[in-house]
Amino acid sequence: MKKILSVLMMLVFAMSMMTSCSAAESKVTTTSASAEEFVLTMQIGNPMMKVNGTEAEIDPGRGIAPIVQGGRTLVPIRAIIEAMGGTVNWDEETQTALLEYNSDIIALTIVSTTAYLNDKVNTLDVAPVVINDRTMLPIRFIAESFKFDVDWIEETQTVTIKKMGSVPTVQPSENGKALVVYYSASGSTERVANYIASAANADIFELEPVKPYTDADLNWTDQNSRVVYEHEHEDERIVELESINVPNWDSYDTVFIGYPIWWGIAAWPVDNFVKSNDFTGKTVIPFCTSASSGLGESGRLLEEMAGTGNWQEGMRFRSGAPESDVSAWAKSIVGNTNSRIRQYELTNPAIILII
Ligand SMILES: Cc1cc2nc3c(=O)[nH]c(=O)nc-3n(C[C@H](O)[C@H](O)[C@H](O)COP(=O)(O)O)c2cc1C
Repeated sequence: MKKILSVLMMLVFAMSMMTSCSAAESKVTTTSASAEEFVLTMQIGNPMMKVNGTEAEIDPGRGIAPIVQGGRTLVPIRAIIEAMGGTVNWDEETQTALLEYNSDIIALTIVSTTAYLNDKVNTLDVAPVVINDRTMLPIRFIAESFKFDVDWIEETQTVTIKKMGSVPTVQPSENGKALVVYYSASGSTERVANYIASAANADIFELEPVKPYTDADLNWTDQNSRVVYEHEHEDERIVELESINVPNWDSYDTVFIGYPIWWGIAAWPVDNFVKSNDFTGKTVIPFCTSASSGLGESGRLLEEMAGTGNWQEGMRFRSGAPESDVSAWAKSIVGNTNSRIRQYELTNPAIILII
């Protein structure tokens, strides 16, 4: 264990030296979008993957395909990481794979469920294994740790890894404050909203429907449920809220707005708030939680409804996203002059409807 940590720490130290040099030179408080799209798809049992439309072997010359073990997809990683723009090193003595992308480093050890993302310890559901002499690693953990978006389509047993352009980080004005506004039907978005508020030192405001959604209301498999009716009748999606007025609204210059994804778009209880408030002069950052869909068009549609404000690309978190991921993102968005300015790649994958 000590050996793994020391290998990891050496790499992290080398990387931090490189990034602190470039941060010291940086005077800008916003970074421009690179807008480059990356899409990699692969299928369980198929040794070929598609990288931005081009077919390639997942494990060149060996014909190894992704497998599912304990509900997780395991893959031979080298060609995948290299296609994503990262690098892979192998420490034979500790049987540890060291993956590096964009100054983040992951350490994964054979048959161990302990994984490191930089200096943070994570527990994996399924440990890396060696099968037929190949090291098979959990792709979702790796891709999400590197801030790629991962979608799983059960019917076709397909994994899609995506990353699209980036957005500016936000430097709040000297006296400006940040606010997190959210709607959550079953608690996932609320958890993420709280993580953001605590990481960004922001105030928080919950959007509460006057008529809350019950479990039966939310049952999208029931053709007679409230949510299905509203989904099918767009003009019935105006949800009356307990309050749309945030105390001291004018004092906020950064507003995070969060919601669950419903049928690929923002859950409509947020619409009323967005339509009723003036976002002029505010930077607005959407975030959502979902089972598998990305942020998709949700932020852009809300921006259209609002008609004011400087809306940014946003971030999708999976329903059970850990606090560490959410806070790292939130801190990078609302930087402060003491922290190193760091550009986070945010995702805007195509909508994949899971229902
Ligand atoms: C009516 C309804 C529609 C949903 N549609 C989608 C969807 O299109 N894509 C998806 O990935 N998840 C979908 N989900 C799952 C939720 O987005 C996900 O569970 C979310 O984290 C719930 O957040 P909350 O707990 O804050 O309400 C849907 C859930 C419900 C209730």
